Amino acid sequence: MDSANTGHEAGHKFLARLGKKRLRPGGRIATEWLLSRSGLHADSQVLEIACNMGTTAIEIAQRFQCHITGIDMDKQALTKARANILSSGLSNLITVQEADASKLPFPDNHFDVVINEAMLTMYADKAKARLLQEYLRVLKPGGRLLTHDISLTVPREEDNVAQKMQAAIQVKAQPMLTDAWLTLFRGAGFHDVSYSEGMMTLMTPKGMLYDEGVFGTLKIIRNALKAENRPQFLKMFRHFRQNRNRLRYIAVVSTK
Ligand SMILES: C[S@@+](CC[C@H](N)C(=O)[O-])C[C@H]1O[C@@H](n2cnc3c(N)ncnc32)[C@H](O)[C@@H]1O
Repeated sequence: MDSANTGHEAGHKFLARLGKKRLRPGGRIATEWLLSRSGLHADSQVLEIACNMGTTAIEIAQRFQCHITGIDMDKQALTKARANILSSGLSNLITVQEADASKLPFPDNHFDVVINEAMLTMYADKAKARLLQEYLRVLKPGGRLLTHDISLTVPREEDNVAQKMQAAIQVKAQPMLTDAWLTLFRGAGFHDVSYSEGMMTLMTPKGMLYDEGVFGTLKIIRNALKAENRPQFLKMFRHFRQNRNRLRYIAVVSTK
């Protein structure tokens, strides 16, 4: 797949190292919008692609009491996920495994819901389309795909908006205009595509407090201010602040 970080620590790994638990553009607000339209119940079979440290998988299992399988390619994040699942007491409902989203180790028509937050944006457009084919394959007919990504309010080329973001987060991310996102899902064969957009909350003080709580935010800030972390934190913080009118979160629910 043609996503690659730029050789430095990727923004999401950096934020996770500082103590951030939600590594997605619209944080809890966008995830909540998705879950409220998920149709999830205790008998649902759920796949979380890019589960990282298990934050969303744990919330879903707690709330809906359903079985959920999480996959990620990051071994370190999965170790953290296993510890978090154990301490949440939900090992009976959640399993995680190392796997690549482009080759999901599951049969066709298997899941009621697939959730994938803050991952598609990291890939080139053709790769996004291939990933969606794989998500479509493992969903049952009528199953729902919940995604959460970054959308642009200006074309990618304008003032090098995508390139500047790549430099700030150190990942070759390819956010898209709203219409391009919707065309991508429809073109992959999904129907009933609905979406919600809003301000990116990933690194705003208000978003951080809402997503991570007071103690979580204080821990992140304390770590961010350490000399070895400060330059990267400030670079990302300033980038998202300066581009707050160009970069938004987009949450999309699509049906197979
Ligand atoms: C920005 S983080 C988002 C983590 C989590 N979904 C969240 O919202 O907090 C992106 C995640 O995607 C994972 N990832 C990227 N490409 C992947 C792939 N092809 N298959 C599985 N996981 C992938 C990374 O390892 C990382 O954990």
